Amino acid sequence: MRMQEVIFFLGNMGDLCWAELQAVLGSAVNLQRLDQRLASAKLQPDFDIKSLQKKLGGTIKIGKLIKKLPQETEASTINYQLIEYLVSLGQAKVYFALGELGRDHLEPLDSRWLKARLEENGLKVRFAATSRRGAGAALLLHQAKWVELLVTNTPDRILITHTLSVQDIDDWSYRDRAKPYSDHKKGMLPPKLARMMINLAGPSKQPRRLYDPFCGSGTLLLEAAVMGNYELCGSDLDVKAVIGTGENLDWLRQAYHLEAPARLFTRDVTAVRVPDLGGQKVDLIVSEPFLGRQTPRDEQLPGVFRGLQKLYWGAFRTWTQLLVPGARLVIVFPRVTARDGSVYTLDHLLDKLMSLGYNKKSQDLIYARDQATVQREICVFEWQKN
Ligand SMILES: C[S@@+](CC[C@H](N)C(=O)[O-])C[C@H]1O[C@@H](n2cnc3c(N)ncnc32)[C@H](O)[C@@H]1O
Repeated sequence: MRMQEVIFFLGNMGDLCWAELQAVLGSAVNLQRLDQRLASAKLQPDFDIKSLQKKLGGTIKIGKLIKKLPQETEASTINYQLIEYLVSLGQAKVYFALGELGRDHLEPLDSRWLKARLEENGLKVRFAATSRRGAGAALLLHQAKWVELLVTNTPDRILITHTLSVQDIDDWSYRDRAKPYSDHKKGMLPPKLARMMINLAGPSKQPRRLYDPFCGSGTLLLEAAVMGNYELCGSDLDVKAVIGTGENLDWLRQAYHLEAPARLFTRDVTAVRVPDLGGQKVDLIVSEPFLGRQTPRDEQLPGVFRGLQKLYWGAFRTWTQLLVPGARLVIVFPRVTARDGSVYTLDHLLDKLMSLGYNKKSQDLIYARDQATVQREICVFEWQKN
């Protein structure tokens, strides 16, 4: 069977989205990074792209590659390629949307001209007025008749793609906003980041036991529940958070028709023992620990990071008792740049963690929102008993 080449349009945090894609697809599919926010892979024609799209937190669209053109290709040639492809679809009426990426420095392609040429070719045409970046999920997800073509400039090529799938943004925000319990003072993990963190642990055929020892409102457990194939455990020092996580999981079970049993309990991270987890060790810890104050003042930073170092060290030491050998951990580490430019991290803990058997597998996966003082580094570890 002839392989199809597909293009992945990655979200804002390109490195993190790319790492997620690598963890989910592995190396067998000739995965390549084309640009900060673009990747390509060669997939079997019957590959289930829509399921892959649903699984990924960091990929916004996936498109079939139609044409690679040299960087200097003129607009008129691109237009003819678009017409040729749309005519080749053999539809009497074409519902068509056009997007352009990486081309803000160029005049937009002339959609009216395109429509007129298609009509000259005997096609009826309905053209969607979209932003220059292309159609939104509302159009593409709910009306299969729409064909979206994207013209994307990469550093060395122009790509024309036919969009095969798009992230269901409504579903992601529904999970984020409709759940009954949240605590904004604690800083909540965006569901897409939670999903990427779970995926970063890599695939597994058997169900895994996933534990979040700082579960807060349970964002990570909710994402794992939606994904399926995980036995869920969660705990927190704060009883309100544990009750809230339980309420959120109940809401999710109803809203998404899931079973998703979970073991939840209230405990300081350093006091957790195997019986708390139902008498069985876990093979996956995915967690966003306490990261200190959300907007620390510069003079508070040394003290805040001393406290965090103690918390993280205590947690990782305790976890050696809870993990099966070969277990994976995906943990948020805080990173703050003070106004004088000095950077506060917990990097100096890494050598000590190695001495406990933790091997860091990731590098520089940063999730940073513009307005946030505390950036998150997503660290992937494998644990082997020393
Ligand atoms: C950043 S929040 C986690 C937020 C969570 N990821 C969410 O999406 O809602 C950190 C959590 O760690 C908990 N926590 C702080 N210190 C703890 C400790 N020593 N042991 C266990 N949990 C702790 C806090 O109560 C808080 O709920």
